[in-house]
Amino acid sequence: MNYLNDMFSLAGKTAVVTGGGGVLCSIIGSAFAKAGANVILWDIRQEGLDEKVKVLAQACGDPTRVSSVKVDLLNEDSVKQALEKSVSLYGKVDILLNGAGGNKGKAFLTEAKIEDVEFVLKLNLLAGCIIPSKHFTSYWIKNKVKGAIINIASMAGLNPLSEVYGYSMAKAAVINQTVNMAKELAPHGIRVNSIAPGFFIADQNRALLLNPDGSLTARGKAVIAHTPYGRFGEPDELSGACIFLASDNAAGFVSGINIAIDGAYMAFNI
Ligand SMILES: NC(=O)c1ccc[n+]([C@@H]2O[C@H](COP(=O)([O-])OP(=O)(O)OC[C@H]3O[C@@H](n4cnc5c(N)ncnc54)[C@H](O)[C@@H]3O)[C@@H](O)[C@H]2O)c1
Repeated sequence: MNYLNDMFSLAGKTAVVTGGGGVLCSIIGSAFAKAGANVILWDIRQEGLDEKVKVLAQACGDPTRVSSVKVDLLNEDSVKQALEKSVSLYGKVDILLNGAGGNKGKAFLTEAKIEDVEFVLKLNLLAGCIIPSKHFTSYWIKNKVKGAIINIASMAGLNPLSEVYGYSMAKAAVINQTVNMAKELAPHGIRVNSIAPGFFIADQNRALLLNPDGSLTARGKAVIAHTPYGRFGEPDELSGACIFLASDNAAGFVSGINIAIDGAYMAFNI
């Protein structure tokens, strides 16, 4: 047990989880807290945050290790203030899980609303990766913290989803910039990796995949047919990879990789 504990414990670390008021990131935040970390959930929606903080506090059994900060990740001043507040809560921050993101709109190229494409691109690439990473790494370099970033990409970043332009472009760029940041930040001991989830039911895609009665939509059926495991993922199936990537002992020489967690979606062939 001690060996596993030494390898994977996040005790003494503080993790900021963006998109923490949402479905997947609150579960990953809960996993970090259960692995011993202080966890600060960041989100633009206060009501989502309040609810998830209670859930996490109960899950880890120590309400003092779970907090939240409201932030608009598209606004650099808001991110700077949220980082200062987070550092003041637990003394320092070591782990950044870039999880905020989502999609809006779906159309053939000829019908695409460019304002939607631009919004989704900014949400997933700038708010969901680049802006928080810029401010955290600047804080880490200045304070000599050997931090770890975990970006949430998507299968859409490896194989574009039909009619979903902004999201696929942004997630491809997140994987691309994970590699770039890993190289640039390696001299500072900062690790940068990503995970690429397959399909998980969450607020942003529920209506696309499930009918109100819980049955599959046509898109939901297509996803399941394309997923060799024949089901959607369970959010907690993302936790192990995130704890691994967050742990300096388990992943101290791991940087610039992307871990697919997709029920073999990318292995699909005929
Ligand atoms: N659900 C899936 O199947 C799936 C698959 C692959 C990747 N992902 C990615 O996982 C991540 C989490 O998604 P989810 O499915 O749990 O969605 P979700 O909608 O439940 O969570 C996303 C959260 O981001 C927050 N957010 C949006 N804009 C923000 C902003 N400007 N500032 C701060 N917070 C903001 C939202 O309020 C929300 O709570 C996203 O990056 C998503 O693209 C999800």
